[in-house]
Amino acid sequence: MTSSEGNKLWGGRFVGNTDPIMEKFNASIAYDQRMWEADIKGSKAYVKALQKAGLVTQNEMELIRTGLDKVFDEWSKGEFKIKPGDEDIHTANERRLKEFIGDPAGKLHTGRSRNDQVATDMRLWLRDAIATLKGLALQLINTMVERAAAEIGILCPGYTHMQRAQPIRWSHWILSHAVALRRDVERLDDIRKRVNVMPLGSGAIAGNPFNIDRELLRQELNFDMISINSMDATGQRDFVVEFLFWGSMCLTHLSKMAEDLILYSTKEFSFITLSDAYSTGSSLMPQKKNADSLELIRSKAGRVFGRFAGFLMTLKGLPSTYNKDLQEDKEAMFDTYDTVHAVLQVATGVISTLKVNQVKMEAALSPDMLATDLAYHLVRKGMPFREAHSCAGKAVCIAETKKVSLSELTVEDLQTVSPLFDKDVSSVWDYIRSVEQYSAPGGTAKSSITAQIEHFRTWLQAQQQ
Ligand code: ARG
Repeated sequence: MTSSEGNKLWGGRFVGNTDPIMEKFNASIAYDQRMWEADIKGSKAYVKALQKAGLVTQNEMELIRTGLDKVFDEWSKGEFKIKPGDEDIHTANERRLKEFIGDPAGKLHTGRSRNDQVATDMRLWLRDAIATLKGLALQLINTMVERAAAEIGILCPGYTHMQRAQPIRWSHWILSHAVALRRDVERLDDIRKRVNVMPLGSGAIAGNPFNIDRELLRQELNFDMISINSMDATGQRDFVVEFLFWGSMCLTHLSKMAEDLILYSTKEFSFITLSDAYSTGSSLMPQKKNADSLELIRSKAGRVFGRFAGFLMTLKGLPSTYNKDLQEDKEAMFDTYDTVHAVLQVATGVISTLKVNQVKMEAALSPDMLATDLAYHLVRKGMPFREAHSCAGKAVCIAETKKVSLSELTVEDLQTVSPLFDKDVSSVWDYIRSVEQYSAPGGTAKSSITAQIEHFRTWLQAQQQ
């Protein structure tokens, strides 16, 4: 028997040793050690329930709990030594507990399986991870909202199909991304409800035969609910999939924002200047300043979506309850967490430090972007919209033919299109007037944006509670 064979939680029925390559292939300790704290927490609660059920004495319970505290101490000081045969975090912690307290350690796993244990650890870990990500997302949203408030006076072109569409306020652009992120935060709250359900006490598949007090466990571990079916509780990872989807959606939102900003930071646009803190240079071209932060933000959406798609494929067609395939849940979850964690912070840094070039933004506005306004001008004089749209289109055509801008057309030119035009048409050629028309809720007028900002501030405040 090699030294690693001795630690196995399942060695009893085996005579031969595990192939060393298989041993490595099977092990998850390299990555699931991140759950050391959740694992110890779960065990400390579990032994309390064992004591209540009469399966360990008060003395044994105290011994096990103090032993677990010592294991905890080692991990928190970075002194825990992983040994050969520590297949996963559950095995490693139990092995170490036994080294500390001897045989009573063997009672800890009574009625428990690594199947309910790992699902419990995952949920405990993810619950905390969700809280951290939510905090970072709120910080980003707050940065965006305050930037929108400070820069409400700046106008810029709004694009559809990446073509100049209508003038908007720069704040409107910022908030359009903040709104999407806000939905992501709400989604996270919703996911948390399903994450915060306790599988412990489900055993391997059939449940717990020792009449364990699951309500006590729930309270000890601060879960909202107890899982209602042991087969589901041990074999389901839909809560992980939801989180992976969440990460994919959130980063898809941020990749869209990053793409806009990359474009706006080009010399051709020059709407914004990225802070040096979030840019890098070229090893060959001395003049280059690259928006690497934004490019990486854009790229990470693909990475996280890969995790999501990959793990969902792992689940597809799996038979009921626990199968070792489920061990794949961890790297997908950790990597998604780490990636989103980094992206949210970098995005906050980018947004809070970039400089807006108001002159360039406003210089990019052009009278053709007021063609819709020209149509609305006729609508306000009683013309049906379809007809007004056609008249404004004709005016655009005349301007193009005469090689002048739309605003340079004379009243006489415009009257060839419609007799409803007279000299009051000059009021149309005003970008501020243009954006101020959109004062209905959700629009780009100052009053509407102010209302959006107020809405956000109230919501953000409520989130702090
Ligand atoms: N390391 C395993 C995992 O992450 C723990 C559960 C093992 N259960 C089992 N029946 N082999 O999935």
